Amino acid sequence: MSNWVNIAIDGPAGAGKSTVAKLVSEKLSFLYIDTGAMYRALTLAVLKSKTNPSSETDVSELLNHSHIQLIVDQEGSRVLLNDEDVTLDIRSSEVNQLVSLVSSYQAVREEMVKRQRQLAGTTNSVLDGRDIGTYVLPYANLKVFLTAAVSERARRRHQEQIAKGMPSDLEQLKVDIAKRDELDSTRAIAPLKKAEDAVEIDTTALTIPEVVQAITELAKERTA
Ligand code: DC
Repeated sequence: MSNWVNIAIDGPAGAGKSTVAKLVSEKLSFLYIDTGAMYRALTLAVLKSKTNPSSETDVSELLNHSHIQLIVDQEGSRVLLNDEDVTLDIRSSEVNQLVSLVSSYQAVREEMVKRQRQLAGTTNSVLDGRDIGTYVLPYANLKVFLTAAVSERARRRHQEQIAKGMPSDLEQLKVDIAKRDELDSTRAIAPLKKAEDAVEIDTTALTIPEVVQAITELAKERTA
């Protein structure tokens, strides 16, 4: 258990985790650790280096030589892969399609979890992912499980992509999200699952400020 306050926000793709986690971290002046971005950065590294994605050994070897940084500065939150800004590239459809496979490998998860625990052990933080409350930080001060209907989650991702000027296909997103839910929830190691002591919030009909408010209040209660 660390002396720092850690908030775990887990849930399926597109439930609003990253938006909400980022805003909660800003409100509380905590560090935001986007663990999905770490798996995405590795997936991008696999694609760029033409590593065989089916080889767990090759992918985990690549991770051992990859420097992944999550940075927050005046420009916002950015993801660096070996010092290159890959914030936008890690959201591509190629990465979306391959990230579940890359993140299913035990050797990859062990290393990522090690890095995530190190980060969370040095400061107050909000982590979002799939296995934070169940596995990465079982002693987190607050665990939240965010959900939303698949159609609503696809609609949100679609709007996000368009806002960033990236190509987007709503129907494809629905298919991708449903497929990713299935893969992430049924994988053998640390599957997406609500921790028993997590507070579940269905965000389908809630606004972002409402969700942020609810979590911030819970966090204040828990750490009072
Ligand atoms: O939250 P996201 O969509 O950016 O996550 C990308 C993928 O990374 C997701 O499909 C599953 C994987 N992931 C994971 O396995 N464990 C985490 N803690 C975070 C993400």
